[in-house]
Amino acid sequence: MRVDGGAGIQPATLSALIALVREHTGIAMTDRKSSLLERRLRPRMRELDIASYQGYVQRVRDDAGEVAHFIDLVTTNDTQFFRTAHVWEYVEREFLPRWWRERPGDTLRVWSAAAASGEELYSIAMLCERFQAATPGFRYQILATDISRQMLALARAGRYAGRSVERLLATQPDWVRKYFTASGDGLQVVDALKQHVTLAQHNLLTPLKAPEKFAHQPFNLVFLRNVLFYFDQAHQRSVLQQVRHSMAPQARLILGESESITGLETACQFERPLIYTLDTQAP
Ligand SMILES: C[S@@+](CC[C@H](N)C(=O)[O-])C[C@H]1O[C@@H](n2cnc3c(N)ncnc32)[C@H](O)[C@@H]1O
Repeated sequence: MRVDGGAGIQPATLSALIALVREHTGIAMTDRKSSLLERRLRPRMRELDIASYQGYVQRVRDDAGEVAHFIDLVTTNDTQFFRTAHVWEYVEREFLPRWWRERPGDTLRVWSAAAASGEELYSIAMLCERFQAATPGFRYQILATDISRQMLALARAGRYAGRSVERLLATQPDWVRKYFTASGDGLQVVDALKQHVTLAQHNLLTPLKAPEKFAHQPFNLVFLRNVLFYFDQAHQRSVLQQVRHSMAPQARLILGESESITGLETACQFERPLIYTLDTQAP
């Protein structure tokens, strides 16, 4: 079946799709994303035997069950282990030792707030394991959330192959030996890492309903990386307002490579590029 006879998305349908993306994810797309939307939606439309983009718009509007598929298709989920090296150096060499000095005996709570397929959260877990080995009594818990159910399933499985592990194998072979086992043509995260991780679906534009284990326990470290840049300023502000309610006093917020919230008038104060501290005095 040829979708829309092979023609592209008509302008009115494109506007409707962009509005649906914004409604369900907060992501701000422009008309320039037309071919990206075509590429991503076409296989799903074939699967559902829907011949026009307008027909698919109607399906998403009418069928709540289709929304999760739609979200999986329109989100961009690229990630990697230890993405942006200097952030991980900061966490390992500065954040963890200082946090432990200030809060000995406490349990560190970390939130990976747009976790995608899990490379970020297992990078956190590996650092925490290493810190724990040198710091008797140190305990940690990680909550990992994403809006995409498909990504959460990948993160839960913790099986990685291809590009995702090539770089890790090249740069951290000893970590691979310690925290992964061979699985088919890839690697499987060991249970020792997984047992510290709770995964949950969450839309960053809504208040976090933290699983029982994390209820009333604010986070000391929040990774909110490579997701804010998909939103317009109004949505960025709303996300930061929501995230702030889940942060402990003096918690650190870590952003992605090219992101900054300076100028957004949030309760988070610049500490250094990509790293912010929650200002508890802020209104
Ligand atoms: C590019 S990935 C970032 C992954 C990881 N944080 C990193 O920096 O490598 C962006 C993730 O944000 C998620 N996302 C997009 N909109 C979201 C929303 N409104 N709420 C929660 N997650 C969202 C996507 O599903 C995707 O997995």
